[in-house]
Amino acid sequence: MRSAQLTIDPAFSIGPADRRLFGSFVEHMGRCVYGGIYEPGHATADSRGLRGDVLQLTRELGVSVVRYPGGNFVSGYRWEDGVGPVGDRPRRLDLAWKTIETNAFGLDEFMTWATEAGVEPMMAVNLGTRGVQEACDLLEYTNHPGGTQLSDLRRKHGAEEPYGVRLWCLGNELDGPWQVGHKTADEYGRLAAETARAMKMIDPSISLVACGSSNRTMSTFASWEATVLEHTYEHVDYISAHTYYDPSDGDRASILASAVDMDNFITDVVATADHVAARQRHKRKLKISFDEWNVWYQSRLQADLDRRGWVEAPALIEDDFTALDAVVVGDLLITLLRHADRVGVACQAQLANVIAPIRTRTGGPAWRQSIFHPFALTARYARGTVLRTEPVSPRYETKKYGDVPVLDTVAVHDEETGALAVFAVNRGDADLPLDLDLRGLPGLRPEQHLTLAAGSAPAATNTEAEPERVTPRELTTPTSDGGRCTVALPACSWNLLRFAPQP
Ligand code: AHR
Repeated sequence: MRSAQLTIDPAFSIGPADRRLFGSFVEHMGRCVYGGIYEPGHATADSRGLRGDVLQLTRELGVSVVRYPGGNFVSGYRWEDGVGPVGDRPRRLDLAWKTIETNAFGLDEFMTWATEAGVEPMMAVNLGTRGVQEACDLLEYTNHPGGTQLSDLRRKHGAEEPYGVRLWCLGNELDGPWQVGHKTADEYGRLAAETARAMKMIDPSISLVACGSSNRTMSTFASWEATVLEHTYEHVDYISAHTYYDPSDGDRASILASAVDMDNFITDVVATADHVAARQRHKRKLKISFDEWNVWYQSRLQADLDRRGWVEAPALIEDDFTALDAVVVGDLLITLLRHADRVGVACQAQLANVIAPIRTRTGGPAWRQSIFHPFALTARYARGTVLRTEPVSPRYETKKYGDVPVLDTVAVHDEETGALAVFAVNRGDADLPLDLDLRGLPGLRPEQHLTLAAGSAPAATNTEAEPERVTPRELTTPTSDGGRCTVALPACSWNLLRFAPQP
C-alpha cells in the first residue's frame, strides 16, 4: 500500500491564521436573503424578520466576515432604496438575476443581522452603473458619526452610532461581460482609484478591495490585475479573486484536485501584484481578498434563469452538495490557510440557499449541507500560526491539472494552548497511511481524528428529510511513539487531526 509522510515543525511558520479567512457572502440573489436569513413570520424569526435558526447555524459555522449585498446584484443596486420606512421602498428590476427586488431588506437590516450573527460586515459599492459620489454617500451613511445629511439620516433610521464598516469592495467582477456596467481594465482601474481616493478622504481607516479577475480562465486574467493595480495600487489594500469549481462533468479525479488550481491562482495573482509593486517601487505587499469561492454546479444556472419571468426571490442555484463536494471544500480551505501570508480575507459564496452551507425551506426548517462541516471545523480549530508543511505523497494524473499529489495538508499551531491541528485531504481512491513526525513539537499527544469520507457514497447529500446523512465521524485516535504516529486517511476524505499537550 502506498503511504505518505509529513514532518511538522514550528520553526517553519507562514503567518497567523487570520479569522477573516473564514468569511461568507450574502447577496440579494435567489433565496439567500428572502427565505434565507430573513423571513418575517417564520416560526423562528424575531420581530425584525431575522430567522433564528439561520442565525444559530451561522454562529455554529464560525463565520467571521460577511460580504454584502453582492455579487452581480450590486452592479445595478441603489443602496438608498433599502433604507427608511419599508412601506416607502421601491420595487425594482434586478437585472443580474432577472428578479423583482422588493427592498424589504436593506443596509440597516443587514447591519442588525450582522450584529446578531456576531460577524464583521464587508460592504461592496456599485461601480457598475454608479460611481464616486454614490460610493461616498454610502460611506457617509454607514461610517460618519453625525451632523451631515446622510449620517443624520442613518440616525433618524435608528442607528445613532456609525456602523464603522472597515472592509469595502470597489465593485464586483467588472471584468465579466455578464456584469451590468462591465468595463475595460483601464476604465475600471481609473474609476476604482478615484473612488478609493475619495472614500479614504471620508474615512482613512477603511480597507479597500480592488476587483481582480472573476476567475483564472478569463482571457484577460493577469493583464486585468496588472492594469487595475497600475491605477490603484497606492490606494487599495487588497485585490480580489473569485473561483468556483464545477463537478457537473463527473471528472472525479480533476474536481478532487480543484485546490491545485486555487493554489496556482493565488501564486499568479501574488506574482502580478508584486510585479506592479516592483515597477512602482512600493514596499507594502498587497494581499488577496478571495471574496468568492466554492463548488458550484454552474451548468444548472441557465436552466434556473430560463424557467421564469420577473418574480420575487426565486430558488436559484440551490445546489445539493455531496460528500465529495465537502472534501473539495475542505481542501480549498487548506489552500487558503497555506497562503495565509498573502490571502487576508476569504468569503465562501454564499451563506444560505444559494450554493450554500446552510439550506432552508421557506416556512420550514434549516439544515447543514455537507460542505458546512469542513468549514465549521476548520474555522473552529485553525487557530494560531499556520505552519508550512511539505508532505511526501504519492501522485496521480488528472485531465484538468496534470500530475497532482494525492495528499494535501496544512497545520496550525496554537502557541497559547499548545494545541496543533492538522488538516489533510486524501484525494485518492484508496486509504492512505500517513506517517507524522511531530518531534519538533515535543510533548504532544493525539487527541482526535475526525474524517468526512466520500469513498463509499460520494454522491450522498443532506436533505430536509435526512439532514445528518453526511457528517464527520470520529476514527480511533492513533497512538504516538516518541513524537511519531501513523494515521489512516480513508479513501477520498477530508480529515482533522487534533493534538494536545500532555496533561
Ligand atoms: O455567487 C454568485 C455570483 O457569482 C456572484 O453574484 C458573482 O459575483 C459571481 O459571478
